[in-house]
Amino acid sequence: MQILNGKRIVLGVCGSIAAYKVAELARNLTLGGAIVDVVLTESAERFVGTATFQALTGRPVLTDMWALPEDSVVGHVALGVNADLIVIAPATANTLARLAAGMCDDLLTTTVLATTAPILCAPAMNVHMYAAAATQHNIATLRGRGFTVLEPAEGRMAEPMVGKGRLPEPAIIEGEIRALLGRTHGPLRGKKVVVTAGGTREPIDPIRYLSNRSSGQMGYALAAAARDAGAHVTLISTPVTLEAPAAMELVRVETAIQMRDAVQAACTGADLLVMNAAVADFRPAEVADQKIKKQGHAEGMTLNLVPNPDILGELAQRDDLFKVGFAAETQDLQHHAEGKLQRKRLDMIVANNATETMSQNDIEVTILTRNNDVIMMPRQSKEAAAVAILQTIIERLPRLPADRGAGHTE
Ligand SMILES: Cc1cc2nc3c(=O)[nH]c(=O)nc-3n(C[C@H](O)[C@H](O)[C@H](O)COP(=O)(O)O)c2cc1C
Repeated sequence: MQILNGKRIVLGVCGSIAAYKVAELARNLTLGGAIVDVVLTESAERFVGTATFQALTGRPVLTDMWALPEDSVVGHVALGVNADLIVIAPATANTLARLAAGMCDDLLTTTVLATTAPILCAPAMNVHMYAAAATQHNIATLRGRGFTVLEPAEGRMAEPMVGKGRLPEPAIIEGEIRALLGRTHGPLRGKKVVVTAGGTREPIDPIRYLSNRSSGQMGYALAAAARDAGAHVTLISTPVTLEAPAAMELVRVETAIQMRDAVQAACTGADLLVMNAAVADFRPAEVADQKIKKQGHAEGMTLNLVPNPDILGELAQRDDLFKVGFAAETQDLQHHAEGKLQRKRLDMIVANNATETMSQNDIEVTILTRNNDVIMMPRQSKEAAAVAILQTIIERLPRLPADRGAGHTE
């Protein structure tokens, strides 16, 4: 879902040392198709210049409500009235205080007071300024009024100090923006979606495990696409090298059994399950307490494997849950995918050639549905594929639950 496309976002920048970081945010929002109007407070102008933001957004940067462009008909309130979302990043202690007091003595605070759009604040300040009772009180007041106020990151600050007060990374702020826009405009708003990602690890001894080449990239992209479409997303992930995505619940698991338990818990009340994780079919029957030594196995050794639970199969009777499986095969792709679709009573299966896609950035998939639709998609980035797959799911979701039950073989 191209949730940023055409959305009017006001990006308010305050007088913090972290102001330079949001240049990247302004750029990425603009590249995503948003119309970004940057408003700098008077103090912000001491940290960053208008030229940078103007060049990155392709739009005039506004600073003074007494000197607005002549074509802004209702001048000081036009930005707030027309906005789809207001983001204040970095939000200073001072601006949070002025907002909590309902003040509107500059263009940014006036814009906020004049809007009915969602408002997102990303505070950044000295660790003591953030912990100060006044700041905490102001944040609580703003949250009580429906503002989304992000927790600052912890770590090294500009001064020689470590603690909570750093501006969250631009990618995190962008994820929160996408989630807020999705919850306001997205087709999955109000829906609960569970996505699994990565390859399970099945322990052999305390330091060794059986696993597979799944990178988690596809599952993470699907979770982000569902979040952008407005869903409440639970991402159940095995250990991967990807950054935790913003604005979703992340449940970390390692083994197939942990994955099964997490999926069952998360699917309570869920509308959609996208089972993208590469779950091991088998696990070692016994896990050694201590590291297995080479000595004593001069002739080689045999690992005895037992089957893992069939996570999707166990949910076959959940007719209220739209279930999407993935079939990563190395041969007879469509045949195997069709079999899995039927056996597990899935609504949809996404088939792909494992040798061409696992650990790769691009993917070529064929989607099979329970109504015998076959949708072939071109090779594309996993992010683009995730959006396209989700769109295919969304087009079929509204038919729930009326026509369920037909088309499956027991
Ligand atoms: C070098 C310097 C760095 C500052 N960094 C921050 C900061 O990170 N967060 C903050 O809340 N205030 C910071 N301040 C203080 C604000 O700039 C000051 O409170 C100002 O009035 C904020 O105005 P504004 O909220 O209208 O942008 C800093 C001040 C200076 C001189």
